[in-house]
Amino acid sequence: MANGERLLIPRQRLLLSLLFLFCLLGAQSCAASGGEPVVFEIPRNGRVVELDESNFDAAVRAVDYLFVDFYAPWCGHCKRLAPQLDEAAPVLAGLPTPVVIAKVNADKYKKLRSKYEIDGFPTLMLFDHGVPSEYTGSRKAEVLIENLKKLVAPNVSVLESDSAIKGFVEAAGIGFPLFIGFGVEESLIAKYGAKYKKKAWFSVAKDFSDDMMDVYDFDKVPALVSQNPKYNEQSIFYGPFEDAGSFLEDFIRQSLLPLTVPINRETMKLLDDDERKVVLTILDNESDENSQQLIKVLRSAANANHDLVFGYVGVEQWEEFTETFDISKSSELPKMIVWDKEEEYEIVEGLERLQEGDYGSQISRFLEGYRAGRTIKKRMGRGSPTLLGVNALYILIFLVAVLLVLMYFSGQGEENNQPRAHED
Ligand SMILES: *[C@@H]1O[C@H](CO)[C@@H](O)[C@H](O)[C@H]1NC(C)=O
Ligand SMILES: *[C@@H]1O[C@H](CO)[C@@H](O)[C@H](O)[C@H]1NC(C)=O
Repeated sequence: MANGERLLIPRQRLLLSLLFLFCLLGAQSCAASGGEPVVFEIPRNGRVVELDESNFDAAVRAVDYLFVDFYAPWCGHCKRLAPQLDEAAPVLAGLPTPVVIAKVNADKYKKLRSKYEIDGFPTLMLFDHGVPSEYTGSRKAEVLIENLKKLVAPNVSVLESDSAIKGFVEAAGIGFPLFIGFGVEESLIAKYGAKYKKKAWFSVAKDFSDDMMDVYDFDKVPALVSQNPKYNEQSIFYGPFEDAGSFLEDFIRQSLLPLTVPINRETMKLLDDDERKVVLTILDNESDENSQQLIKVLRSAANANHDLVFGYVGVEQWEEFTETFDISKSSELPKMIVWDKEEEYEIVEGLERLQEGDYGSQISRFLEGYRAGRTIKKRMGRGSPTLLGVNALYILIFLVAVLLVLMYFSGQGEENNQPRAHED
């Protein structure tokens, strides 16, 4: 077994040589038909560029950051995406690190489709200096711009003056949390800057004046300041930075989420990366005054219990989700549970519902009860949001059934499978 070649019988060898010859010929004819190398002009007007097989490679070579929409003319999701890309293109073209948006009819240009293994439409890819990676984030122009800005930024920005810090914070905007390591070695942060690149902005400040201590509210260095501008939150980590333990990573991971998390489809994605269980408070309407009171109390509980995530959700805001926790009447609200983010949740005996009044002491008793194990385990009802949505599941079953029927009547599987359309 040491030498695999010895196992080949002569006919197989012949086949292999033939195959090799074909490859050579193929490669040559390709090169010949290419003629002179195509030169791709980077468009200056900030429009979406239509590419095809003749200029695709040249575009990938010429553009540092090329964002490509592989579409099919018949696909409805692609049609809805197009105006979003038209809106994003000029903004992205004007960034300090510009991103060029292009589209390819991958239904027509099958070579490109198979080269990039496009099996659904639209497929979006960012070519970072020629290296493609699939983009699966939001396709709304505004969020797409934020996400791409983040993806093309350095993993960790090194800031060498107060004004550089200011510029970094401004450029980051409010889409993601951001970290500034005052007097923190870049090498200590680099690993996390790479790992959490899609989720937060990372920087280290090397040179800064004492004013920064007031602005960012730290009193010694090294200090890692985290800000979550969307939720108006800030926290500071003073170390240990070089410890073998995971204090630094814990701090970073916990700072990716706000102290109290409004549970919705977007934040649900953030929860996926977090290993903690969720103390979930289910409210009637998360925007009403009483709920806001309660959320304030939850914040102080969250501050004192970093091993748990504190989330809240209103029935008014997301009924589909809240009803999986067995709520039949609004008189059962607000309800507190501990959710494992999968299928199970626990309620604390005797504290199923929070009574109006002193929320602080009820929440303390809830946490005591939970930690002492005085809980009842339950399973979520239908439509667990961590699995497929119920609707998606029904559609899938329906499609499989249709496919089976089709295959039965046609007597064989289709030879030329159309790629399926990507869902939003
Ligand atoms: C930045 O992060 C990515 C992963 O997100 C990694 O592949 C890349 O090597 C990092 N770049 C540097 C300069 O560390
Ligand atoms: C939720 O409460 C807010 C503030 O009181 C109110 O404006 C809003 O209409 C309520 N939402 C629903 C769906 O009842």
